[in-house]
Amino acid sequence: MTRNELMFGMRFLASQTDAMAGEGSPRFGFRRLGLGACRRDYRYPEDAGMPLRGMPAVSAVIPIGLADLEALTGASIDEERRACVGDATERLFAWSRLLAQRYREAGLEPLLLADATLASRDGRLLAWELALDGFRVVPRRPGATLWEDIRLLCQAEAYLVHPAAFPLARTLTLRLLLQDLAGRAKAGREAGPLAGFSGLRPEALGRPGWPLLLTSRGLGACLAGGSAMGVEHVDTADDNAVFCALPASPVDVEERRERLGVLSSGEALRLLRLSGCPAKGVWHAMAVGRVAEAIARKVQAKGGRIDPDLCLAGGLVHDIAKGRRRHEAVGALVLQSLGLPGLARLVKDHSDVVLPEGKPVTEREIVYLADKYCYGPTFVPLQERFGQKLDIFGSRPGARAGIARRLRHARELEARLARELGESPEAIAAGVLGARRAGGES
Ligand SMILES: [Fe+2]
Repeated sequence: MTRNELMFGMRFLASQTDAMAGEGSPRFGFRRLGLGACRRDYRYPEDAGMPLRGMPAVSAVIPIGLADLEALTGASIDEERRACVGDATERLFAWSRLLAQRYREAGLEPLLLADATLASRDGRLLAWELALDGFRVVPRRPGATLWEDIRLLCQAEAYLVHPAAFPLARTLTLRLLLQDLAGRAKAGREAGPLAGFSGLRPEALGRPGWPLLLTSRGLGACLAGGSAMGVEHVDTADDNAVFCALPASPVDVEERRERLGVLSSGEALRLLRLSGCPAKGVWHAMAVGRVAEAIARKVQAKGGRIDPDLCLAGGLVHDIAKGRRRHEAVGALVLQSLGLPGLARLVKDHSDVVLPEGKPVTEREIVYLADKYCYGPTFVPLQERFGQKLDIFGSRPGARAGIARRLRHARELEARLARELGESPEAIAAGVLGARRAGGES
């Protein structure tokens, strides 16, 4: 027996002993996320940057096997589909590692449950690799159902079940479910935590996605042979929650994985809606997104290393925390906590930007300038936009100088882009927003 085999065997035995030892085993199944008050109505801007308070004990489980996937999704995985992804066992383990890392980032230490895939030598080697990296990998018991294993191995008030074949669900989906759970636990404290609640499931593109959140009641229903009956659905701004990597080609999965930090326009708009953004805010966001994307495409055409999709998404969510004090910084915190650091960077500085000569224009400067061209959903030139600010705030001490400084910075950036593009970004913005002329009329 090699050292690796020995270590995996010892971990497995220890985890089994832990699980058999009964309730509350601190080494297995869940991590408490803290106690305290929690708002019932979850909204991303208010709560997303905050620690999750009032959270019941939650256990996250990642089933790795194909048999479990078939049982959970009701789909049969034929040989042809398996062939699409090459060695399915190897990919399932790689995906489970991806998912486990995301759960860790969200504050949960998931349990990886591997079924018959472990019977092969490859499967055992892959499991040892995970175990040596500190992930908790346990083989499924022959003859037991997934729900029976979960009940045996995890002691918790709620369970997140997430098949490894859905590896690209974003942190924001985990956060949405956990925060909803915390809110319900708080609201239902008098009647008994989570009384009457079976679970919750994210939904995107009109389809139910993953993870599935089950309460003890929901798990009990599954154990009794029913499906996850009574589980509620909640919209998530994350199409990856429904994306199954198994029928997709490895290239498609890799491309999606690289784009995890960039929301599609549909996702960004749903995120705005989930954050409680009013309709007029959405109109403004769409205008900024369209202008930012159009300028980015021109920069890209001139050879600049710019991601127009990131500019579009950044423009759409740049005011996600509008209405709050220092909304740029709060918005950045919100997006950071939702696992979107690239978008957070764009949002953090959108009131004033200084770009030193010699440094290339990035998505941050483009979203910033696009915002300055949009008054609500309507095109305005810089002079007019900052003139409005002077009219409103100019009488406050110090405000006039600050507004004049920001106007100077915006003009410097506008002039630089005009030089680099050979056309004025103002004209691009006016064209996108349908202004009659690039001089302020709209
Ligand atoms: Fe804005």
